Amino acid sequence: MRKFIVLLVTLVVGLAYADGQLEIFSWWAGDEGPALEALIDEYNALYPDVEVINATVTGGAGVNAKAVLKTRMLGGDPPDSFQVHAGQELIGTWVVADRMEDLTFLYDEQGWFDKYPPGLIDLLSTEDGIWSVPVNIHRSNVLWYNPAVLENLSVPVPESWSEFLVFCPDIQAQGVTPLALGENWTQQHLWESVALGVLGPQDYTALWSQQLAMNDPKMINVWDTFGEILACTNEDAAGLSWQQATDMVVSGEAAFNVMGDWAAGYMNTTLQLEPGTGFGWAPAPGTGGVFMMLSDSFGLPQDVTNRENVLNWLRLMGSQEGQDIFNPLKGSIAAHLDSDLGLYNAYLQSAAADWKSDAVVGSLVHGAAAKEAFMSQFATVLEIYLSSGSAQAAANAAEAIANQVGLGS
Ligand code: GAL
Repeated sequence: MRKFIVLLVTLVVGLAYADGQLEIFSWWAGDEGPALEALIDEYNALYPDVEVINATVTGGAGVNAKAVLKTRMLGGDPPDSFQVHAGQELIGTWVVADRMEDLTFLYDEQGWFDKYPPGLIDLLSTEDGIWSVPVNIHRSNVLWYNPAVLENLSVPVPESWSEFLVFCPDIQAQGVTPLALGENWTQQHLWESVALGVLGPQDYTALWSQQLAMNDPKMINVWDTFGEILACTNEDAAGLSWQQATDMVVSGEAAFNVMGDWAAGYMNTTLQLEPGTGFGWAPAPGTGGVFMMLSDSFGLPQDVTNRENVLNWLRLMGSQEGQDIFNPLKGSIAAHLDSDLGLYNAYLQSAAADWKSDAVVGSLVHGAAAKEAFMSQFATVLEIYLSSGSAQAAANAAEAIANQVGLGS
């Protein structure tokens, strides 16, 4: 018996003991940081002898981080683990380049096959393996507002883009920006919600397999509607971060903003606003009953020095406990099916209910819907639209890129 206890103690200590470093690379910097920092605190408590390097590159949606990551991966200096969206964003880049480790063994070891939604595991997988561990589910298609401001404006929460457009001049006449907008990627972010709202979930999904052509007349309608909506946004959009666009709603400078639910994290965790009173939410116009999802995940590059420390990081991040530390602060719901909803605020509880009952589609901009080669060139399509103002030119450009990259194959 004593021998057994000694063995057990050695095993447990052996498993838990780790030293060296762990570099975690992400774009969760500054006021996007609290959720990641809380998870790192937990890791530090479990593995006190490991020095965690929290390497962040500022810039929403990873606009800058992805470029830095590319240089590091190509230069043979991979971070120990890095943030990447579930889906083609990783598979189409570092998986096809054979730079990632297959994590199927970790899913087996942790029993995760029954703990995450099957559709999400599919998104993370190819025939050859599972390439990362998801930490959350974010929703892209959310309309945010300040209830007190809407009341002052006497404006309802629009259920469709045409309804929004009816109220746009009225809001402008009261000296308020109808829809707050930020830098380029947030414009793409708005576009995907407009596309979903105008097309509906079937046609929106059909785009990514080329069953609906990018230059179909329905897509001309999407771009034309997008153009009308842009006319209801602030002129200084290009210079604003997503947080600054959110601030416009909070302060009453703007009536609405379309942003992913990291905005709920920002408003609740950073700005300390209460869901329901401090800020309100609804599905982006025309997208009720549809959940446009994306998921942040972390993987294991091949040949990293601190492999064991990464595996412990992934074990923590993928666990119910880890996800319930991270997500209430982040503004996302857990990917893990055993998550304790009692730990989440009213917004997140409503997101969790929608995640269960809604039709689910993937976000283009945040890596879940389409081939990476298409997604990364979508900024060019938007530029073409913004500089030419021509729906047809943008639709043709998108169709050309879709054909070049074999979007449907
Ligand atoms: C998304 C990411 C979110 C959040 C957001 C803003 O791409 O999935 O977790 O960080 O960008 O930066």
